[in-house]
Amino acid sequence: MTSAAVTRVRAALARQPRIPLAVLPTPIYDATRLRDALGGPARCPRVLIKRDDLTALGLGGNKARKLEYLVADAQSQGAATLITTGAVQSNHARMTAAAACVAGMRCVLVLTTTVDEPAMAGNLLLDRLYGASVRLVPSVDPMLAVGQDEAVVAEVVADEEAAGRRPYVIPIGGSSGIGVFGYVGGTAELVEQLDAMGVSPTRLYFASGSRGTQAGLTLGAKLCGASYEVTGIAVSAGEPEKIERAKRIANDAATRLGLTERVDLPDLVTDQGFIGEGYGIPTDAGLEAIRVLARTEAILLDPCYTSKGMAALIQHVRAGKLSPAETVVFLHTGGMPALFTESFAKAFTQQS
Ligand SMILES: Cc1ncc(COP(=O)(O)O)c(C=O)c1O
Repeated sequence: MTSAAVTRVRAALARQPRIPLAVLPTPIYDATRLRDALGGPARCPRVLIKRDDLTALGLGGNKARKLEYLVADAQSQGAATLITTGAVQSNHARMTAAAACVAGMRCVLVLTTTVDEPAMAGNLLLDRLYGASVRLVPSVDPMLAVGQDEAVVAEVVADEEAAGRRPYVIPIGGSSGIGVFGYVGGTAELVEQLDAMGVSPTRLYFASGSRGTQAGLTLGAKLCGASYEVTGIAVSAGEPEKIERAKRIANDAATRLGLTERVDLPDLVTDQGFIGEGYGIPTDAGLEAIRVLARTEAILLDPCYTSKGMAALIQHVRAGKLSPAETVVFLHTGGMPALFTESFAKAFTQQS
């Protein structure tokens, strides 16, 4: 039975413009073989995997939920072109390009790259396949190019306006108050599924980047009365600024939804222990997580995000931080195209 809290959240979301882009609800998968590989029921909690890698839009992933609201907002403003930014292998950029196709809009992607001519593979190949126009911004570190890519976005906006097309700029990762609605709705869906299964998980693990997912999951957990602690695993540095952003956009979403609940900084802390050398650089623990999930459950994690989130869960099991009596949920946020890049092939074969 749907709880009153979930019904209230769904009613608030139903008042927001939204276009259907994702196949929902996504399934929950009981990862029994993974549990066996981590010591079985005597050592490892029950691990449920929420399969948001199966949202279907453009090979799936977490951004589909955010884009349902962002693209609807763009259309309600009469926009013809979606513009967004990210690193060259951005999943968000690929899914924005896919969403633009479905919505009948143009798409311009401003992508930072550390090499002059990035290989036409993985997400970048799909961006082109979806017909997006790509502007590359060279940078020594993809996460440090923010100022540079802003200048290019301003140029693209001016070009679109000059051509008589109204642009709509989606912030990096789709992480804005409107984007946050995606995981407020995702939480209502998850809490309802867990209730129907009769389980009360203690933690929800997921990989946290630009923090829109985290803002939505945290606000959603508060609104829906979720049983679990929202356990974000950071994949990139810059916690102080990002935590403030998460708070700002979560509370902007709450205001837009007409709800009085608010999230605070302590609700939004992430675990910084699994970033490794930096954003987009695979870690040994992450590569092990990719191999274990592939060989136990045939589930594909990605080298940049989900592998680091799952590495945290595995490490917490091995360190005895989780009791076998618990149930935990791992939110699989997608990212599979990055497996089909030269850099992943190199990292994987070096470690094998
Ligand atoms: C596969 C995957 N997982 C997790 C994330 C993190 O989501 P957020 O940027 O909302 O923190 C991203 C962001 O691009 C992603 O592509």
